[in-house]
Amino acid sequence: MLRCFSLLLICALVLCWSCHASQQHVCLVMLTNPPVVHLFDNSLSERTHIYLPSQFSPIEYAAYLVSTHDTLLASTFSSGTYKKLYSYTHLVNGFSAFLTAQQADILYQKEEVVLVERDTKLSIQTTYTPSYLGLPGGAWQEEGGAINAGEGIVIGILDTGIDPTHPSFSANTLKPYPKPDRFQGSCEVAPEFPEGSCNKKLVGAQHFAKAAIASGEFNATFDFASPFDGDGHGTHTASTAAGNNGVEVIVDGLSFGFASGMAPRAHIAVYKALYRGVGGFIADVVAAIEQAVKDKVDILSLSIGPNGPPPGIATYFNIFDMTMLSANKAGVFVVQAAGNAGPSHQSILSFSPWICSVAASVHDRTYPNTLILGNNKTVEGIGLASGTPGNNMHNLILASDALKGDGSTLPDANDCQDPSLFKVDMVQGKVIICSYTIDYIFGGESVNKVVSAVQNLSAVGMVMVVTADFEGELTIPLIPFPIPAIIIPTTEGTKTLLDYYNGASNDTATVRITGSAKAKFGHEAPKVAKFSSRGPDPQNDDFRAADVLKPNIMAPGHMIWAGWSSVGIDSSAYQGQKFAMISGTSMATPHIAGIAALIMKKNPQLSPAALASALATTAFTVDEHGEPLLAQNPSNDTSIELGPATPFDFGGGAVNATATLDPGLVFDAGYEDYVKFLCTIPGASNVVQNATGVTCADPSSPSVAATDLNLPSITIANLTSLRIVPRVVTSIAVAPETYKVTIVEPRGVLIAIKPMEFTIASNSTQELSVTITPAESDGKPSFGHFLLSGSNGHRAHVPISIVAQSS
Ligand SMILES: *[C@@H]1O[C@H](CO)[C@@H](O)[C@H](O)[C@H]1NC(C)=O
Ligand SMILES: *[C@@H]1O[C@H](CO)[C@@H](O)[C@H](O)[C@H]1NC(C)=O
Ligand SMILES: *[C@@H]1O[C@H](CO)[C@@H](O)[C@H](O)[C@H]1NC(C)=O
Ligand SMILES: *[C@@H]1O[C@H](CO)[C@@H](O)[C@H](O)[C@H]1NC(C)=O
Ligand SMILES: *[C@@H]1O[C@H](CO)[C@@H](O)[C@H](O)[C@H]1NC(C)=O
Ligand SMILES: *[C@@H]1O[C@H](CO)[C@@H](O)[C@H](O)[C@H]1NC(C)=O
Ligand SMILES: *[C@@H]1O[C@H](CO)[C@@H](O)[C@H](O)[C@H]1NC(C)=O
Ligand SMILES: *[C@@H]1O[C@H](CO)[C@@H](O)[C@H](O)[C@H]1NC(C)=O
Ligand SMILES: *[C@@H]1O[C@H](CO)[C@@H](O)[C@H](O)[C@H]1NC(C)=O
Repeated sequence: MLRCFSLLLICALVLCWSCHASQQHVCLVMLTNPPVVHLFDNSLSERTHIYLPSQFSPIEYAAYLVSTHDTLLASTFSSGTYKKLYSYTHLVNGFSAFLTAQQADILYQKEEVVLVERDTKLSIQTTYTPSYLGLPGGAWQEEGGAINAGEGIVIGILDTGIDPTHPSFSANTLKPYPKPDRFQGSCEVAPEFPEGSCNKKLVGAQHFAKAAIASGEFNATFDFASPFDGDGHGTHTASTAAGNNGVEVIVDGLSFGFASGMAPRAHIAVYKALYRGVGGFIADVVAAIEQAVKDKVDILSLSIGPNGPPPGIATYFNIFDMTMLSANKAGVFVVQAAGNAGPSHQSILSFSPWICSVAASVHDRTYPNTLILGNNKTVEGIGLASGTPGNNMHNLILASDALKGDGSTLPDANDCQDPSLFKVDMVQGKVIICSYTIDYIFGGESVNKVVSAVQNLSAVGMVMVVTADFEGELTIPLIPFPIPAIIIPTTEGTKTLLDYYNGASNDTATVRITGSAKAKFGHEAPKVAKFSSRGPDPQNDDFRAADVLKPNIMAPGHMIWAGWSSVGIDSSAYQGQKFAMISGTSMATPHIAGIAALIMKKNPQLSPAALASALATTAFTVDEHGEPLLAQNPSNDTSIELGPATPFDFGGGAVNATATLDPGLVFDAGYEDYVKFLCTIPGASNVVQNATGVTCADPSSPSVAATDLNLPSITIANLTSLRIVPRVVTSIAVAPETYKVTIVEPRGVLIAIKPMEFTIASNSTQELSVTITPAESDGKPSFGHFLLSGSNGHRAHVPISIVAQSS
């Protein structure tokens, strides 16, 4: 079955390559025989396919694997007809190479080859956030304040590199960082990344570009062949996870407050494998992850995702996900962006249960800005910009009233993109009203152009109004203006302004802009962002749903201020700036990586699964009034703009940084549990056996089910009859505690849990048995949860997502 499927995969490769039969592509090849981490650091009982001299050390074994890769290639193809890019030995046994479709097919026929994949590539998908998450008074205090939070923990950032000159990564001279003891990574040196770029904060920096170079997509005159960040994204994510505390955010001379990483005393190791404009290749990313794990990072933050679900029998059996499984086995906590493909059903781009997949929330920070009219009326607006000078009123001019004769015939001259269309003497010294048109959204117009036009015309400031094309309120991306400016985002505000302007006699309309660089914090709970990718998790390329909850946790990912590379080009609005405010699940991910560093510092013994459990079971799902958190276009009805969020939108819920440090109970799991889980996937046992060296139990025996994996959630994609789902909790609290269970049943499903009350000693475990019975089946997902409430105040919230089918 598997072979059959994989052959299909190869056929697909042949098909899509057939028009260029001689063209080579980046391919990843996985071989039998386990990689180093599977062989050397624990006691797996049953293994197959290991033909090894027993005296091999890990280094000798790795060298042996490399020699098998080279021998396989050399004995199959004549030299010069292929190009090996990397050998992988630590987390997966395999290699990547530049091959034709025919060569890939030939390799796949070899007995020792388990998988061949064409590289489908990957893409990159805070001043306010620390206090929003309750860090300064909560989680940081528990770790001795911002001055200690996360110290000694190394977060690996796999991204577009880093700008090492950024103040977020400077060594602290007042309180020098210690050297993290376990970390063994290195720091590359290049002209733009000179000796001394690394310090005890930025402890390592390397880059991986063999696949990008071989494919002709890496261009050293366009990006740097070094860890230096030519994009901005990597500097942003690194500073969000672990940037220094209290770095002032200054953009265009305006101060927007102070930024800090989530774990401001943690250390950063950079693995650049994504490039300006081209994204990245899985082949480079796998090499980077192998290196990060060998270097002994504690956490890996991946603000990246594949360009689509990998084809295959199971979404988890691709070389990227298998590499992350081995990283988990090596004790590294892997955090990955859920993806920005929301709000559609099954748009999730992070699949496997051993990865913590992060959804993004929108939070309620605004930058209010006010326009005061000459008649003393005020119009509320937004815009990160300074006000007009002093308290003086300034004459106002509507763009269409200042156009040269020829300009007025152009359809969109009022958007002030082209200063040559204006009569300078009509505009200079005044505040000009320009239109925001739909072309801003489609990319034909830019804020940079309107700014330079306003400067060129020597206007004092600019009011941007929405045109009548937009109804109600407009979500204009908040970008800073280096000129006095305000955006009036409502048609109502626009009308007030234009009525005043049109009613005033010639040249008597005046205004003043108050300016705004100060955030206003509302009291609304976070909402799932529209763009955040949604579950359920696809299990295969037919998009059959898996019994695994995705995403797993939600963190802020909308309008996040963080560091920016001084040469970053990812966002045109922030070129040349040291900070940028951008959005995405990419921004949510390093929030979780940083919080994980705080948890790890407090509870160094936790496994990656236990750490993920601490994040998920303590997350909140209701606001301060007990009302459910909302999602923009919730997954169970994406047609509504705002509705109750479901676990397919936010996993366990919105992260509560304070509560994660003391979860009381954790749902733990280890490598062998993941392998058992993989063995439950129909037709997967050969691949599991060949890739991991572990033999699956006889599939016909009354075997384990995928839902048996001890996750802090229960997900059943197709419930047709009574199911008993086991769970085990482990107490990591210091004292014994008595827990009571409460249940909220999903619609149409009956749930019983045994026991309903238990007392658990520190360091011990308790089994729970959850009986799930379908009552009414409508084939639609329904959601509930159970809650374990402890006598000492610990609470573990476990979401339940069920699709009940009539059998
Ligand atoms: C994988 O394992 C099965 C069963 O042990 C074996 O028959 C097969 O040859 C192995 N290799 C591949 C590539 O599946
Ligand atoms: C590399 O980038 C430079 C600068 O953007 C460009 O001029 C050049 O054409 C590019 N070369 C290739 C081979 O793409
Ligand atoms: C606006 O308010 C100022 C100060 O309160 C006052 O001096 C001025 O006369 C008012 N102007 C109008 C048009 O009401
Ligand atoms: C505005 O742009 C024109 C055309 O590029 C240029 O000649 C003029 O000097 C500019 N004026 C100012 C004030 O920058
Ligand atoms: C107002 O300005 C227009 C155009 O500049 C001009 O034609 C008109 O005569 C002016 N009216 C007054 C009352 O100044
Ligand atoms: C976060 O956790 C803390 C500590 O358990 C709790 O006091 C607080 O209410 C939680 N916050 C939310 C929003 O649930
Ligand atoms: C659900 O399971 C039943 C029984 O195994 C099967 O007949 C049915 O096709 C499945 N439905 C889906 C949507 O997978
Ligand atoms: C809990 O167990 C771990 C390992 O089994 C041990 O190192 C630790 O001391 C125990 N802690 C307590 C409080 O018993
Ligand atoms: C979607 O799920 C939420 C949360 O469980 C629930 O309140 C809502 O009624 C559901 N909507 C639909 C259309 O099923």
